[in-house]
Amino acid sequence: PEKCVVAVDGPSGSGKSTVSRRLATAVDGVYLDTGAMYRAITWAVINGGADLNDPDAIAKIALETELSIGTDPAAPHFAANGTNVDEAIRGPEVTGAVSAVAAVPSVRKHLVALQKAIIAGHPRIIVEGRDIASVVAPDADLKVYLTASAAARAARRSAENSADVAATEADLARRDKLDSSRAVDPLKQASDALEVDTTGMGIDEVVAHLLHLLNSKV
Ligand code: C5P
Repeated sequence: PEKCVVAVDGPSGSGKSTVSRRLATAVDGVYLDTGAMYRAITWAVINGGADLNDPDAIAKIALETELSIGTDPAAPHFAANGTNVDEAIRGPEVTGAVSAVAAVPSVRKHLVALQKAIIAGHPRIIVEGRDIASVVAPDADLKVYLTASAAARAARRSAENSADVAATEADLARRDKLDSSRAVDPLKQASDALEVDTTGMGIDEVVAHLLHLLNSKV
């Protein structure tokens, strides 16, 4: 298709990243990982020594941070204030703090504006996050809400970073709770998003299914 904006939302470990990157490659489009944007800002906040209980301090650093946002689905590199953060943003420190940073309203406002600008500049883009269908791209051509059982999500995530399955499941549950219960733009399925439960589905199967949905929509 000439133009296609696809919103992929869902909880942590539902397969959003892998599926979104594959889908972007398949439609010869770009990929926007909004979670990586919140993570890169969190890295800068930690690096700047801000108190994570102080929303004003978090917001100040967040708005001063210069982000470089990679959208190549084969290599979506991120930098914050000129430092590559691809590895650091996947580490436990950032993962532990990101939901608190993402709950600060002015941080969200700032990043949502950046996300909208990036989407406006790309006719074919797959955008993954928590609030894409509802807030960032309400006019998306296709909106999917990826889910999977807690056990399946933890198994996938721990295979990715060779962490303990039980600890991973606990961390996913902790972030889901924070992300679903925050006051501003919480994680929830948009009324017009199609739910795809990926439990027991392979990546190829999920990508094929989404391509099928996309082709029937655009
Ligand atoms: O997708 P990922 O696990 O990398 O996202 C990290 C965190 O960023 C989430 O747990 C959530 O707190 C936040 N996030 C968000 N809104 C988005 C994407 C991510 O609040 N659109």
